[in-house]
Amino acid sequence: MTRYQTIVILTGAGISAESGIRTFRDGNGLWEDHRVEDVASPEGFARDPKLVLNFYNQRRQQLLSDEVKENAGHIALAKLEREHAGEVLLVTQNVDDLHERAGSKNLIHIHGELLQKRCSRSQTVSEVRTDLNVDDVCDCCGAAGTLRPNIVWFGEMPFQMERIEAALQKCDLFISIGTSGAVYPAAGFVSLANACGAETVMLNLDESDNAGAFKRSEFGPATKVVPMFVDELLNN
Ligand code: OAD
Repeated sequence: MTRYQTIVILTGAGISAESGIRTFRDGNGLWEDHRVEDVASPEGFARDPKLVLNFYNQRRQQLLSDEVKENAGHIALAKLEREHAGEVLLVTQNVDDLHERAGSKNLIHIHGELLQKRCSRSQTVSEVRTDLNVDDVCDCCGAAGTLRPNIVWFGEMPFQMERIEAALQKCDLFISIGTSGAVYPAAGFVSLANACGAETVMLNLDESDNAGAFKRSEFGPATKVVPMFVDELLNN
């Protein structure tokens, strides 16, 4: 039984890296050979919707292929939610569904989901498992060209910020896993948790940009450090 009651966890691309999904900021600074501003901004979408839709079509196909599956890090976090006596809220910056596949339930996708589409006119969100094309006709408004992936691009507001901030203010443990701490507001969650008196822990392959803000850090691949840390929490 852990001494903590309310736990908030933030995950980033690093937790899915060993599932075969590339992270954003390692290597050459490009995201799957594209400049991030071309494929992850409203301006990029307005300039070349076909390129952007195809980019996410490829990411979606990869996610749904046999190559990709949840790993020991995702599975350990689902176990923590199941076995911890208090509350566990998982906030992920990832647009994949690997936390759901592992069994996490109390989960917020702050940057949206690859397996959802959204009508730009009505904002109606629905599931999508096939490709989106520029001339697709939207079910809700009957118009062509209104559909986009339900993903938060640069310059857009992340989802459910009020709920997350309220949870951070009352949590007594905040854990950040596999994120470079380069993209706000998520990179600032640790400061809010610190200000409200929580223990703050970083689990990552290497030092994140905001590493100095954490009270404790454990380095290593997510498939090793996350199960170890979860076992420590559940057994203490
Ligand atoms: P990044 O690619 O910026 O950072 C990934 C982090 O994971 C780095 O700190 C790596 O060291 C670490 N890492 C890599 N492999 C790991 C492993 N096997 N185990 C543990 N850690 C590992 O990804 P994010 O921080 O998630 O936003 O990026 C944040 C946001 O920037 C994304 O959600 C995306 C992007 O632009 C949008 O698309 C809106």
